[in-house]
Amino acid sequence: MREPVLRLTSLAKVLPGGRRLFGGLALTLEAGEHVAIRGESGAGKSTLLNIIAGLDTADSGEVMVAGTDLVRLDEVGRTALRRDAIGFVFQAFHILPHLDLVRNVAFPLILQKQPRAVALVRAGEMLDAVGLGDRLSSYPRELSGGELQRVAIARALVHAPRLILADEPTGNLDPDTAAHVIALLGRTVRERGAAMLLVTHSPLAAATADRQLMLTPHGLVPADG
Ligand SMILES: Nc1ncnc2c1ncn2[C@@H]1O[C@H](COP(=O)(O)OP(=O)(O)O)[C@@H](O)[C@H]1O
Ligand SMILES: [Mg+2]
Repeated sequence: MREPVLRLTSLAKVLPGGRRLFGGLALTLEAGEHVAIRGESGAGKSTLLNIIAGLDTADSGEVMVAGTDLVRLDEVGRTALRRDAIGFVFQAFHILPHLDLVRNVAFPLILQKQPRAVALVRAGEMLDAVGLGDRLSSYPRELSGGELQRVAIARALVHAPRLILADEPTGNLDPDTAAHVIALLGRTVRERGAAMLLVTHSPLAAATADRQLMLTPHGLVPADG
């Protein structure tokens, strides 16, 4: 059997001021699984995703991504793991303003040193899948918040990562577009045997997940309803 896509063990994070965000946190995500995380504002959801992506560090515990212990890697190793195994939809998009849309979405493939022509074709297909197939040469400043969010989602999926981390990816979308985007994310996870951790305030988005969890100071607990 393949190793889980993600395994968190006894994870703890204390803020610089001393407040414990969470401790004893455990989670296993198998290939094809889609888990939603809810929790109050400030509970540490974005911090948790950043730790899983190797962009922040935990104070103790283990983070295994696709069988690799993130904590034992150096910065170069963490960057490579992030580039190859993880797709991240950030809460604040992080779209590059000086690149047109197709080059923004192709960026993860360019980082992987894929041929430029291949990267641009795949990026175009991915933009088409999020409904922006006619905007390939547009620049980010010409887009609405909801459109930028879809660009961020296309970029997170373009390199077929095994683990998708999505931080409130439908926060800026109207309900119809949100439903479309969540369906696309869910379908991608199932078809590719990837796994997804979705942070969301939307009960509708959370309801599409296989499991719903709540982030508390004691870790992730089953969310009711
Ligand atoms: N670099 C940091 N230094 C100090 N406090 C931080 C830092 N990043 C986040 N925090 C604090 O950590 C808490 C959790 O933040 P966050 O993970 O963004 O929560 P959520 O995404 O659940 O709303 C907040 O109280 C926030 O102010
Ligand atoms: Mg957040």
